[in-house]
Amino acid sequence: MSNAATPAPQGAKSVLVRIEDGIAWVSLNRPEKRNAINPAIVREMNEALDALEMDDACRVVVITGSGEAFSAGQDLKEYFREPDAGHPILRERLYKGNAAWQWRRMMHFPKPTIAMVNGWCFGGAFQVLLACDLAVADEDATFGLSEINWGIIPAGIVTKSVAMALMQRTALYYIMTGEPFDGRRAAEIGLVNFAVPKDQLEARVRKLANTLMQKNPHVLRACKTGYHYVREMSWDASAEYLAAKSDQTKFRDPEQGDQKGMRQFLDEKSYRPGLGAYDRSR
Ligand code: COA
Repeated sequence: MSNAATPAPQGAKSVLVRIEDGIAWVSLNRPEKRNAINPAIVREMNEALDALEMDDACRVVVITGSGEAFSAGQDLKEYFREPDAGHPILRERLYKGNAAWQWRRMMHFPKPTIAMVNGWCFGGAFQVLLACDLAVADEDATFGLSEINWGIIPAGIVTKSVAMALMQRTALYYIMTGEPFDGRRAAEIGLVNFAVPKDQLEARVRKLANTLMQKNPHVLRACKTGYHYVREMSWDASAEYLAAKSDQTKFRDPEQGDQKGMRQFLDEKSYRPGLGAYDRSR
């Protein structure tokens, strides 16, 4: 295991980064506070994402939590109570820094991202989860939109993310009741892709990451960018945008993947695109 290419920022400890075989394992690291998201995590996650997007040793990012929690959401003391009592500009800055990593940076991160939900996942942690492209959970992990239980709405951008990801009845049920549910239920409602027993969680995530690493990274990036933009566009605008995006992707692809894929399927008959990726090495 080495992390030589992406050293932790000086003094960083609330976020740990370890790169191994192309996968960057990024752990929120306040286990004693169930990885509640405080200003240090906001700062260190922005720094970690800056470093990882430039680091060729990182091809897939996995976000998880140290100890028994994925994350207990925003820190009630350090993210809410203390900033509420402080200067409003500083509070605004903190909120913007948080939106940067939990929303804009992650959603459009140039490499694939996977949430590995290893335990408690509440409130603001839903945003982290939903900003990742894919998600795998421990079937016994506990999820909850607990905001209603302590008198706030799921803000930041949590309600929007939940509304985009879940059916209305399901979203409103959990927003309005705050009822906790397990990883199996999270898979059933489409909040995560799979739920597996805890002892299989890391292996399942590694397998998924390896599948993603066989694909053309340039095209993967264009796929997710395209997906996020067309969700907000009309059908006509989507068709026009995707045609242009497709041409741009082919034009800029350093490995000219479509040419390789067509040659290997049509001329060499060496693989079937319906069943797997072309051979990127030739
Ligand atoms: N903000 C601040 N501190 C938090 C926190 C949060 N979101 N979640 C947990 N902590 C702290 C606790 O205050 C406690 O600190 P202490 O040891 O100084 O008293 C420590 O983390 C451990 O929490 P505890 O409640 O004792 O752990 P648990 O394993 O029994 O329960 C949870 C875990 C996640 C069920 C429980 O901590 C909880 O309900 N947290 C709040 C979840 C939430 O509503 N998040 C939404 C925020 S938007």
